[in-house]
Amino acid sequence: MIRNITEIFMNKYGMDISMFDESFLNKTILQRIGTTQCLDIADYSRFVGEDSKEAGLVLDLLRVSYSVFFRNPLTFSVLESIVLPEIIFRKRENKRKEIRIWSAACAGGHEPYSMAMILENLKGQNDQFSYRIFGTDMDEVQITKAHKGEYSKESVGNIRKNQLDQWFTRSGSSYVVIPKLKKHCEFYVFNLLSTHSSPPESIYGDFDLVLCTNILFYYKPAYRTIIMDKIRDSLAEDGLVITGEAERDILKAGNFKEAFPQSAIFRKNKG
Ligand SMILES: C[S@@+](CC[C@H](N)C(=O)[O-])C[C@H]1O[C@@H](n2cnc3c(N)ncnc32)[C@H](O)[C@@H]1O
Repeated sequence: MIRNITEIFMNKYGMDISMFDESFLNKTILQRIGTTQCLDIADYSRFVGEDSKEAGLVLDLLRVSYSVFFRNPLTFSVLESIVLPEIIFRKRENKRKEIRIWSAACAGGHEPYSMAMILENLKGQNDQFSYRIFGTDMDEVQITKAHKGEYSKESVGNIRKNQLDQWFTRSGSSYVVIPKLKKHCEFYVFNLLSTHSSPPESIYGDFDLVLCTNILFYYKPAYRTIIMDKIRDSLAEDGLVITGEAERDILKAGNFKEAFPQSAIFRKNKG
């Protein structure tokens, strides 16, 4: 039956949803059957085939864009206390200036700005270094939001008060990222399933850190592999990949190895 719905999306609307993980697709369709009060999946198939708005809504649900600052506190704490200080040290030793970071499914920019806050804090403790964070997402609406850097009170809820005061200004009931932080973050629309190896704007990948979090588990294995290959190719020699907690097994099966035991931080298997 799900196959039937996938065909309706393709034939009627030219929308390919076949790459999404089957249990995720099932869950989403069941949720829509409940909300639309359709009788069963056959009834819903008819409905979605006749209502393009409903089809658009399903597509939005499949492209879940939920994000939050410092989403996985354990990972961010290892990044702050071990990974980034090591990268800064290495850069200084190699006399290479810029730290290059790619947040590959950045949604509304929470992840790139979280990284920028950490790096700015480390700058306060260390000598100067430069860094550039590329945030990309396939969803243009999310990229526009990231550019704007404006967030509701609820979405900045887990940023420490002193950080909030330091890196945001108030605009009515919203919080806006200040230019000093913004200037290190660039945002572009980029589909990880496209043929480009890394965002064209980054010119060459060579990233010290790639964050690919909470996206792989939405896709079928063949599509996960396409994304992981892209990430691997875009990494610098000693580059690291950060994934979501629930995606650790996907990385392990995808020829990456844990950089720290039980962590969501990986490096590529060499050889
Ligand atoms: C659940 S959000 C995760 C946001 C952030 N990485 C986090 O962990 O909080 C998933 C994001 O992946 C994006 N996405 C899904 N498929 C994508 C693809 N093929 N290429 C680029 N972005 C994609 C969605 O648009 C969405 O913004």
